[in-house]
This record gives sequence, structure tokens and C-alpha cells, in this order.
Amino acid sequence: MGITKMHDRLVTYLMSLKKLLLDTAGNFLVRQWKSIEKKDILSIEDSMLPEVLRIHDEGFENQSSDNLIKYSKNSGSIFYIIKSNDRIVGYCTYYLKPNLSLKGLEKQSVISSIAIDRNFRDRGFAERLLRSTIKEMKVNGVSSILLYVNVDNHPAIQLYEKIGFRIIKQVEDICGQKESCHEMELKLV
Ligand SMILES: CC(C)(COP(=O)(O)OP(=O)(O)OC[C@H]1O[C@@H](n2cnc3c(N)ncnc32)[C@H](O)[C@@H]1OP(=O)(O)O)[C@@H](O)C(=O)NCCC(=O)NCCS
Repeated sequence: MGITKMHDRLVTYLMSLKKLLLDTAGNFLVRQWKSIEKKDILSIEDSMLPEVLRIHDEGFENQSSDNLIKYSKNSGSIFYIIKSNDRIVGYCTYYLKPNLSLKGLEKQSVISSIAIDRNFRDRGFAERLLRSTIKEMKVNGVSSILLYVNVDNHPAIQLYEKIGFRIIKQVEDICGQKESCHEMELKLV
């Protein structure tokens, strides 16, 4: 086997190992999770998935919902829905990851997806969903929340800025192929 091939294999192996370690640590952090009282906001159950997928597909045209299905089943994710009069009107999902910084080992969370039913937008549901779940992140010692948003998604950017997220940098190919996104962060400590 040539040197280049061996190097490529080693890099692939190390990346898989890193992912495995992060997933295991994330699952462990979620198992210790403390829930707080959140009005009209519940953890997802299997029976809610079809409605959540409908809201996802409406909010993200041409984007596969495979990851969302994975998150709903993955014990390392934190997945909430928000209701209005017993009807599911939106969802958001986070995953947890340990982050090694100069301050030591910190808990960081990443918002992997959020959407509100088109007929219920502009009524404060996303803001309520985020504010309540962020409160729960604080109770659980999460030090910062990250997210990635398409640079052209102005409603979402305004929502995140209203809540206190700040743009850190622009990244390519994370939200989708050939898409430019802002990485945004909310510091909690
Ligand atoms: C982005 C989204 C989640 C916002 O949900 P929402 O429930 O309508 O938002 P809220 O009513 O809670 O709005 C809260 C704040 O967000 C901002 N905002 C929301 N919609 C906006 C719009 N269309 N234009 C500008 N700002 C907007 C405003 O700052 C608003 O505060 P204000 O009402 O005091 O002006 C919703 O538009 C959606 O589901 N979009 C499709 C999926 C998506 O893009 N998700 C984000 C991926 S990163």
C-alpha cells in the first residue's frame, strides 16, 4: 500500500474514532440531563414524528429529513416540540458535545434543526421554544450554544440575534453543498 493511501486510511480512522468518542460523551451527558418545567414544550415521542417531519419538510424544501429521524431516535439528542392548543406547531433539536477549551472541559450544545409550522409563524413560538430550552441548557451547565444558519435566512438570523446569538464566522458546505452559512454562538457563562 502506498504512503498516500495509508495516510488517507489513518485520517479516516482517526475521524471515525473522534466521532465515536464525541457521540459516546454526548450520550453520557444526555443521560444525566435534568428537565425543567416548560409550558407547552415536550420531549418528542414516536407518535409525534410524522407531524414534525411535515413541519421540517415545509420549512426546509429539498432537504432530506433523514438526520431529523436519526436525531429523534438517538439517545444523544435533545428533541423538543412546542404545542398550541394540543397541536404540534414546531420543534427544535440539539445535540450535546464536550468541548476542550482553555477553561477546561466544557459542555457545549448545537442546535441541529428548528422550524415552526408555516401557519403559526410570527406569533412568537420559535422565540418561546428557544428561550425555554436555553434556560434548561443553563440549568444543565451548558456553557455555550452553537448553530449554523444560511447567510440568506434573514428571519432565522433576526430570531437568533434577538435571543443574543452572535455571528462568529462564515463557513462553507456545512448547511448544505455550496451553501454559505454563519456560525453563531450564544455564550451562557
Ligand atoms: C425561523 C423561524 C423558526 C422563526 O419562527 P417564528 O415562530 O415565526 O419566529 P417568532 O415569531 O418567534 O419570531 C421571533 C423573532 O424572530 C425574528 N423573525 C421571525 N420571523 C421573521 C421574519 N419573517 N422576518 C424578520 N424577522 C423575523 C424577529 O426578530 C422576531 O421578533 P419580533 O416578533 O419581536 O420582531 C421560522 O420562520 C421557520 O420555521 N422557518 C423555516 C425553517 C428555518 O429556516 N429554520 C431555521 C434554520 S437555521
